[in-house]
Amino acid sequence: MPLQLVRNDITKMKVDAIVNAANSSLLGGGGVDGAIHRAAGPRLLEECRTLGGCKTGQAKITGGYDLPAKYVIHTVGPVWNGGTHGEEALLAGCYRESMQLAAAHGCTSVAFPLISAGVYGYPKAQALRVAMDALSGFLLAHAELDMTVYLVLFGRDTALLGHALFPDLQEFIDDHYADEHTDSLYERARRQQLFSQSGALPENQPDALPYGLSGMPAEPQTSAPSKKGSWLEKRRRKKDANALLTEEAAADGAVICHAAQAKPAAVPPAAKKDSLNDWVARLDESFQQMLLRKIDEAGITDVECYKRANLDRKLFSKIRSDVHYSPSKKTAVALAIALRLDMTETEDLLRKAGYALSRSNVFDVIIEYFISNRKYNIFEINEALFAFDQVTLG
Ligand code: APR
Repeated sequence: MPLQLVRNDITKMKVDAIVNAANSSLLGGGGVDGAIHRAAGPRLLEECRTLGGCKTGQAKITGGYDLPAKYVIHTVGPVWNGGTHGEEALLAGCYRESMQLAAAHGCTSVAFPLISAGVYGYPKAQALRVAMDALSGFLLAHAELDMTVYLVLFGRDTALLGHALFPDLQEFIDDHYADEHTDSLYERARRQQLFSQSGALPENQPDALPYGLSGMPAEPQTSAPSKKGSWLEKRRRKKDANALLTEEAAADGAVICHAAQAKPAAVPPAAKKDSLNDWVARLDESFQQMLLRKIDEAGITDVECYKRANLDRKLFSKIRSDVHYSPSKKTAVALAIALRLDMTETEDLLRKAGYALSRSNVFDVIIEYFISNRKYNIFEINEALFAFDQVTLG
């Protein structure tokens, strides 16, 4: 996973280089600057004295001394001055210049703090966005680099970020995750085609359904139901869905139409006699086969695909070389994002790896939010996942 958000103390990270949010004198200070100098010991300051300072937006490199890291890259972020004095460009420059130095020194792992987001007053949510955009942009532009980059959030940084960054996502989670049992039960019932074959909802069911994970879009809602109303609807649906599921159990696994009893799905006569080998011989397209087909259909290269998926080359080549490769769920989702699949195709790809998305967990609801809003920037998605304490993609 080339770009990761982590909670940590940067002075403790065993990486090739850590980046210091320094001031232009490079002679130490408070915040992360002070923490790094304390942990590195006096020899760091001795070397800094020889550098002759550093301009805002620039970066210089020294040894790591008593730190676990081999190098310290010192960069000077802009002081926040309302955002109309070129702060964003200078801050992005800090990340790019530091990455250039790390690459020039053969680093394969680098850790950054949130530069300027402390004493220099840069609003944290904006500082995070600038950092993620600059770092992901650098990594995408330098596909040849095999480097893992950590953006380190410290202490209260993370608490500030979650909901400030994604207020509409929080609302989406509340709406779609609010009553997990009803939704997942309801969605499950729906996916099992318990309603009429036409897919029409039973007359006593509201047509204002949330976007179904089964890929059937919601009916346009004439007016946003009040929270209470939708909660009540959900309770009623759950009761109906329960009733339907009970019928299902009674019908011994038959697929039940709401309007009428379905005949149990007849097993084609040929299959009854087939051996297990015959069944196995008739496997569907595998995950890997669908992935490679979708890469071709998207007209992108393998490199573009795994960079967009925030995957490293080694993992991707494992998938490419094994037709039966079975990825983790987060890898499968990352590849669906890289291919910019819609919900139906995403569910199809995940199913081939043995996974599904459900409204019973926050990770899945966040993924649904981004895909149904056609937002495929994996680094933005990872910020959101991280902010809501979920595993990140790639
Ligand atoms: N590990 C990781 N991140 C840290 C750590 C740590 N040990 N300590 C602080 N941070 C985070 C802060 O939470 C903040 O989000 O580093 C980010 C940058 O905060 P500052 O260290 O205050 O740096 P900055 O805002 O760029 O101001 C630089 O402050 O310390 C002085 O000498 C420095 O004058 C310079 C100015």
